[in-house]
Amino acid sequence: MAEKLINTIPQMGYGTWNRSPEEAYQGVLWALEAGCRHIDTAQGYQNEEAVGRAIKDSGIPRDEIHITTKIAPENFAPGEPTRTALESLEKLGVDQVDLLLLHWPAIKNQYPMPSYAGELAALYDGGKARMIGISNFTIPLVDEIISVLGDRPIATNQCEMHVYFQNRKVAAHCAEKGIPMTAYSPLARGAVKDDPVLTEIGARYGATDAQIALAFLMHEGHIVIPSSGKKERIIANFEARKIELNDDDVARIRGLDKHMRLVNGDWCPVWDD
Ligand SMILES: NC(=O)c1ccc[n+]([C@@H]2O[C@H](COP(=O)([O-])OP(=O)(O)OC[C@H]3O[C@@H](n4cnc5c(N)ncnc54)[C@H](OP(=O)(O)O)[C@@H]3O)[C@@H](O)[C@H]2O)c1
Repeated sequence: MAEKLINTIPQMGYGTWNRSPEEAYQGVLWALEAGCRHIDTAQGYQNEEAVGRAIKDSGIPRDEIHITTKIAPENFAPGEPTRTALESLEKLGVDQVDLLLLHWPAIKNQYPMPSYAGELAALYDGGKARMIGISNFTIPLVDEIISVLGDRPIATNQCEMHVYFQNRKVAAHCAEKGIPMTAYSPLARGAVKDDPVLTEIGARYGATDAQIALAFLMHEGHIVIPSSGKKERIIANFEARKIELNDDDVARIRGLDKHMRLVNGDWCPVWDD
């Protein structure tokens, strides 16, 4: 089955947050073996070198794999986004990353957006990133960065999104601006397991709760980047691409939204809802 692409990004990726270098190396190899061609890492995950090594050791041509990394907000002082992004490329062993994101807006507005986003733009203009994007940007911040980046396309806004937190306000605003969403923590960090509605729906598709949760987000048009340290789950999660939910089931899953935001630390911007 050919994988669906959104803005050239394979709709299903493999996330590597909270994976040690050893786990990330093994997880990326398993994901690639399962057929996944989209890997998500970040400076903050401290596993870029292991991710790059796994990609190289897989023997799969570089141009067949989409790699996303993210500039950490701790690296937003003038000059640092550029220096650390180049360091990320070196760790990953690539000349160009497919997608370079600002992992967060500046913490407590510590740096003006034109400064750090301007460096992101220059990295894009200089060919160090095939695409650029944002993560954890609220509606006002999306509008602000559009004015900084001008006509450079924003490939995605990567935000928390799962059946229990469907993040519809930001998603609707981004859709209006032509920016696809990438759903992080798409399994609500494992909380979707044993949900009675997902279980009941899954029984009819011969699918697990997790697979239904991922199929739903993809049905909504989002990119998803689940993570697992277990080979059988990595394979099963990737298989969720094949599930096509009917309208009734989609409506029921939309009803599971209970605004259960999982990521909400003091470094976060003021959320839209
Ligand atoms: N931009 C950002 O600020 C940001 C923030 C958070 C995450 N992310 C990205 O999004 C990726 C995914 O998010 P996440 O890691 O927070 O959460 P997630 O993918 O929603 O959930 C991962 C958790 O679910 C479990 N799991 C995986 N597959 C499962 C299955 N089939 N059935 C039951 N449980 C399953 C995993 O346990 P096992 O390992 O035991 O399978 C793990 O504990 C991250 O790795 C990262 O790349 C980005």
